[in-house]
Amino acid sequence: MANRPRVLRTVPSLRRAVEPFSGAGERLALVPTMGALHAGHLALVREAKRRARRVAVSIFVNPTQFAPHEDFSSYPRDFTTDLRILAEAKVDLVWAPPADVMYPVGFATRIEPAGAAKAGLEDRFRPHFFGGVATVCAKLFLQVAPDFALFGEKDYQQLRMITQMAKDLDLPLKVVGVPTVREKDGLALSSRNGYLSGAERDVAPTLYRVLQKSAARIRRGEPISAVLDDGRAEITRAGIALDYLEARHALTLEAVTSRKDGLIRLLVAAKLGRTRLIDNVAV
Ligand code: PAJ
Repeated sequence: MANRPRVLRTVPSLRRAVEPFSGAGERLALVPTMGALHAGHLALVREAKRRARRVAVSIFVNPTQFAPHEDFSSYPRDFTTDLRILAEAKVDLVWAPPADVMYPVGFATRIEPAGAAKAGLEDRFRPHFFGGVATVCAKLFLQVAPDFALFGEKDYQQLRMITQMAKDLDLPLKVVGVPTVREKDGLALSSRNGYLSGAERDVAPTLYRVLQKSAARIRRGEPISAVLDDGRAEITRAGIALDYLEARHALTLEAVTSRKDGLIRLLVAAKLGRTRLIDNVAV
């Protein structure tokens, strides 16, 4: 097996570990994750390695982005397997802070992102979510001080929010988006797919199928609102509880009504039983 990456659990030890990289003029890329790693995360690691000589992966299940009723306590955690996967992927270091290192007693600061983070998509169903993600990502960026940070297009609103935050706060790093990795039947890989029952797993690819079909129809010039109505009906007919299927401007996530409004992204979120899935495609 490949050499295990160094695992750091305190901020001073992390700083000591990354210092030699910048000292040697080596660029560093960070892949923030909550663990339970799959091929989607590994696509981010591969892109990180293309961009930078050194790669750090953070593994931290961030409590502040989960609401009390959400799956923080049951979120899959398997540090040993994650570490083996990251050793094989030849990452240089793993930043895995305990919760009280990330949020010591008395922690009292929160970043409140607006713009794409208030687009009325995920934020409508998870109002606490982007504040938690923005705060932890800002901390991760300041702790690791990477030249690049890699995020998946799978979580498209998150990618747009982080890109905007890096710009707004003059963070000295480049945010890079990576295309979504999918199963053969189109289902986007997610750490939460493991929650799906057999029957739920069978209907889950409906989401991507509807996204693709809707994007093709919009490209052909069909009216967006009629296409979305059909897509919503098809998802609901499959027995999936739809949260939203929307067409938005690909950068601002503002509402669009026609292709003249600019680049369009279709975004969907839905619940299969207890499992909430999200996905999106470019038009
Ligand atoms: P997590 O869900 O572990 O995802 C970590 C990164 O992997 C995110 O950038 C996500 O978009 C990307 N990713 C997940 N599934 C993917 C897929 N199928 N294809 C490509 N990329 C995929 O997103 C988070 O963690 C957290 O919110 C985090 C940013 C770490 C902050 O806590």
